[in-house]
Amino acid sequence: MVNFIFQEAVKLVEKATHQWQTPSNIALVKYWGKTEPQLPKNASISFTLNNCHTKTKIEFQKIQKSSEVEFDLYFEGKRKDDFKPKIAKFFDRIKEYCPYIFNYSMVIHSENSFPHSSGIASSASGMSAIAKCLTSLEKELNPNLDDNYLTQKASFLARLGSGSASRSIEGPLVVWGEHPDIEGSSDNYGIKFPYKVHPIFENYQDCILLVDKGEKQVSSTVGHNLMHDHPFAEQRFKQANDNLTKISKILQEGKIKDFIELVESEALTLHAMMLTSNPYFILMKPNTLEVINKIWEYRSKSNSNICFTLDAGANVHVLYPHNEKQQVEEFINAELLKFCQKNQYICDNTGFGAQTF
Ligand code: PMV
Repeated sequence: MVNFIFQEAVKLVEKATHQWQTPSNIALVKYWGKTEPQLPKNASISFTLNNCHTKTKIEFQKIQKSSEVEFDLYFEGKRKDDFKPKIAKFFDRIKEYCPYIFNYSMVIHSENSFPHSSGIASSASGMSAIAKCLTSLEKELNPNLDDNYLTQKASFLARLGSGSASRSIEGPLVVWGEHPDIEGSSDNYGIKFPYKVHPIFENYQDCILLVDKGEKQVSSTVGHNLMHDHPFAEQRFKQANDNLTKISKILQEGKIKDFIELVESEALTLHAMMLTSNPYFILMKPNTLEVINKIWEYRSKSNSNICFTLDAGANVHVLYPHNEKQQVEEFINAELLKFCQKNQYICDNTGFGAQTF
């Protein structure tokens, strides 16, 4: 494996500010089940989103080497001490790779483009933004470090914060998890899908219907853990890896009908794993099923290529190609918005990953 341990600073940096905007992502083949240290039980692939993102600025100030990581956290302009334990845990996981974090006090300012507690996971965009700020400081400390190496390291660090965050550094399609059919793939970090994608899958649309904005009853950490003694786990990991082989071909050949079938099956299988865990749980809500049925009904009576996927929650991601944007959005407005909390939805599309702002 590439050595991601920071070796030595060749420059003295007293003060620095780095800021990055990183997106959320939506998995097409899902990651559900992991081993320490946050290594996936199967490979996954996601579309990187564009409009759903986190903007994070970190101000670094050199201090005497400390035994603890010193940082303050502001979320949307307000001090947020209750978010600190999660970030402290992240720093603890990455300290071996970024020993310089003990030499700085950090002030972190973060904000999300999507409403707070909308049910859209903010850990992927949040962790990847911090990881990018750290690797930017690293570049300042040692300008000889290669940019590709630092991009990989950002994904590696983000993964240690939240597995799916490894897929939020680049875009528009990212694979995370070692897989024989995906050259360069690794359990340690995400890589850009390395093959040419058919134009039908370019600028793909994702309209996120906010069916339920409440706190999830079961966190994804708990959900992943329940895969350890799950009766169908091994079969599921194999199926996901087989689906990755299939989707790789589908994306290259532009077989959109096969895409629809595979992506919807992945979403329902993810939730089937939850339904069959011990203890079992349900994250879908009645309106999640209403939306799914409406999508199927619409697809059967039109020639639309609309489909859906779900993450670990009740919200529905409605996926469609760019050339169907107008008619699908008319359908969403007319038929689906009534199932969203306060009619809320976010129209997004695939994006290219981290950017400065
Ligand atoms: O990164 P985590 O631990 O929040 O897990 C995310 C899992 C899913 O969103 C359900 C699937 C995925 O691959 O993103």
